[in-house]
Amino acid sequence: MSKYKEAKYRTIYEARDGELQELENKAKNDFWKPNYHIHPEYGLLNDPNGLAYYKGKYRLFHQWYPFGTIHGMKHWAQLESTDLVNWERVGVGITPTETYESHGAYSGTSIEIDEKLYLYYTGNIKLDKVNRSANQCLAIMNKNGEIEKYKNNPIILGTPDGYTGHVRDPKVFKKDNEFYMILGAQRIDETGAFIMYKSKDALEWEFLGELAIKGFIEKSGYMWECPDYINIDGRDILIFSPQGIDIEEEKYNNLFNVVYMIGELDLANLEFKVESYDEFDAGFDFYAPQSFKDKEGRSLLFAWAGMGEFKYPTDKNLWANCLTFPRELTIKDNRLYQLPAKELSLLRKDEEIINEKVNGIKKFENNNNSYELELDIKTLNSKNFGLNLLVSDKEKLTLSFDKKNKKVVLDRSNLIHKIAEEFGQQRKVKLDISDEINIKILVDNSIVEIFINNGEKVFTSRVFPLNNSKNIEIFSEDDIEYSYRKYNLKKSI
Ligand code: FRU
Repeated sequence: MSKYKEAKYRTIYEARDGELQELENKAKNDFWKPNYHIHPEYGLLNDPNGLAYYKGKYRLFHQWYPFGTIHGMKHWAQLESTDLVNWERVGVGITPTETYESHGAYSGTSIEIDEKLYLYYTGNIKLDKVNRSANQCLAIMNKNGEIEKYKNNPIILGTPDGYTGHVRDPKVFKKDNEFYMILGAQRIDETGAFIMYKSKDALEWEFLGELAIKGFIEKSGYMWECPDYINIDGRDILIFSPQGIDIEEEKYNNLFNVVYMIGELDLANLEFKVESYDEFDAGFDFYAPQSFKDKEGRSLLFAWAGMGEFKYPTDKNLWANCLTFPRELTIKDNRLYQLPAKELSLLRKDEEIINEKVNGIKKFENNNNSYELELDIKTLNSKNFGLNLLVSDKEKLTLSFDKKNKKVVLDRSNLIHKIAEEFGQQRKVKLDISDEINIKILVDNSIVEIFINNGEKVFTSRVFPLNNSKNIEIFSEDDIEYSYRKYNLKKSI
């Protein structure tokens, strides 16, 4: 049992009288709050957890520290939805009240077993300011939606020999009548790895060893967080959030990064044979994604649109961060494609459709920063073109296409409120820009998600525009032809 205690390690049950109400009031009217992206009413949100479609509802949890915008005692905040877009906050699913989780209920995943939803998570233990340990834990949701911690917790006590206290974020899945757990881990030599456990009943777990990754970057970083595994069309996909990997030109430029690997998971030999891998998202704020299958068998994914312990401008209003809009994942030509889930259309209102040509700058007056914009562009003779979002006479966010150099650039240097400037203000991807381009953009007050060519490349970024920076511009150095379809989107959380 750890005696280490700091003020930030208290649960919501230890709130002072009126404290939560005060937090709620303070955070309530911030105009940067999203309308259709999941965000906390107050406090700090990070990773999505325990995603599932269970008993007629989408179940979603996220890491949550209620008392401010620091990374303190993490709870699993709980939300539900019947349609994947309209969400209801239903309180806290897991509160870390026990000694085996004395410093937080850290991230994890869920799996349905015998009509119950098993929620696996990490009990974080701080031994002192720098040293830590971890226990793997289980909570079970019954068909009425009630959650109870498993009586024999922790299901895995401590971390195995050869690894530091950084072992966390269980991903549990079933294959050939056995359950498997992958955990993110740090070896004693301070390099990142995945370790695996196996179980017959999903309660008692046997340590298997390390999952060897064959054919991935050599310098693997110092810790691998949030392993995620999904099978799409018979292909195995591992997604993870490594810390400390090297920059490769335009890739991995964030403090922490997310990588996906497509290949084959060979459980008998504890090996993942990588056939292709890439950076998951090219934006500034994207981390700890988690996937799940829904009732239609779709592969859906949410991520934390945030990064590390960065300070964001909403901190002063006592709330921080949001999740991405749910994405559907598909595979084409050994690459992962991501698009907003089709239910987005349930939120549409105020349609605006324009088909025309531009050479120079075309301005669109806009007074609502919660919208969806789809552009189909015929590039004709133009080699350089793009668009500005969040435009006012003071600032803009620019997405530009350079056909000759095969580059797409997202530039947030012309926004007044800066975040993490030390990591640069531009993100780039290489892309063969053909004669036709499809761009889908979700804007929601303080988040922008940009999907290029039906989800081949994606940029997710937080942005904190001034209150009146809302206009849209399309620019081109020569003729382009475009179809512009814009919908304002309804508030759904
Ligand atoms: C990733 C992460 C996880 C951990 C959680 C704690 O953002 O660091 O590894 O479980 O956040 O909130």
